[in-house]
Amino acid sequence: MNNSYTLTAKILHWLMAAIFIFVWCLAFYSNHLIFDTNTDALQHTLIGLHKNIATTIIFLFFIRIFWRYTHPAPKLPDTMSPIMKKLAHIMHIILYLALILMPITGCLLSWSAGYQAPVLYLFNLPDIIQKNPELKAILKPTHVYLSWVVGVMVIGHIASALKHRFIDKDSVFNSMMFK
Ligand code: HEM
Ligand code: HEM
Repeated sequence: MNNSYTLTAKILHWLMAAIFIFVWCLAFYSNHLIFDTNTDALQHTLIGLHKNIATTIIFLFFIRIFWRYTHPAPKLPDTMSPIMKKLAHIMHIILYLALILMPITGCLLSWSAGYQAPVLYLFNLPDIIQKNPELKAILKPTHVYLSWVVGVMVIGHIASALKHRFIDKDSVFNSMMFK
């Protein structure tokens, strides 16, 4: 059906959305919501888990872009105005940028701090840059503030999906659902 994404696109969307939201919450919890004593060891473990899971997004991203390029998205309903269609398209591009910029800035931050960028506790990505405190001072706020901006974008994306489902009651929400 051409008003639905392909099964592969849906699997990639939901797998990446789950990973993205999980690693986001994990790092936010680790950095802001732990008030116990002995937080250093716990934070180290949680940020380690954050990195090991988040790096998988890089591999999935390239598979997804290839799939998206070879399998166009379903048409948006004609009940949407041309400007809303354009905005939806721009929002998708922003979300794709978020999906690649978050892990890339995370890896650059880790390398610049003299750490590795590990993947699923199996192997490390090759260090693209050396330890560099000056660069780290730029990359840390870049990764952190970007994560907040992207967090707001994702909330907007979810709100818009729910609007399509419950207010507009059009085909947009179902196009990404398994049925
Ligand atoms: C989908 C990808 C990612 C998302 C959504 C994400 C999101 C976040 C968030 C929300 C924080 C906490 C921000 C805060 O303190 O308020 C954070 C911190 C951090 N992330 Fe990521 N991240 C991603 C990928 C990565 C990757 C791939 C690495 C490294 C391999 C990484 C390394 C770090 C580090 C080291 C911190 C702690 C920064 C600090 O010292 O405050 N992140 N990330
Ligand atoms: C509960 C969370 C989520 C829901 C309910 C949801 C829902 C949807 C729906 C219904 C669509 C299809 C059409 C549209 O919105 O125009 C879609 C597309 C998309 N979503 Fe999500 N989403 C969620 C989380 C995420 C997250 C966390 C990301 C990435 C950070 C993301 C990235 C995308 C992208 C890039 C598309 C465009 C797909 C394309 O046309 O190639 N989504 N989402």
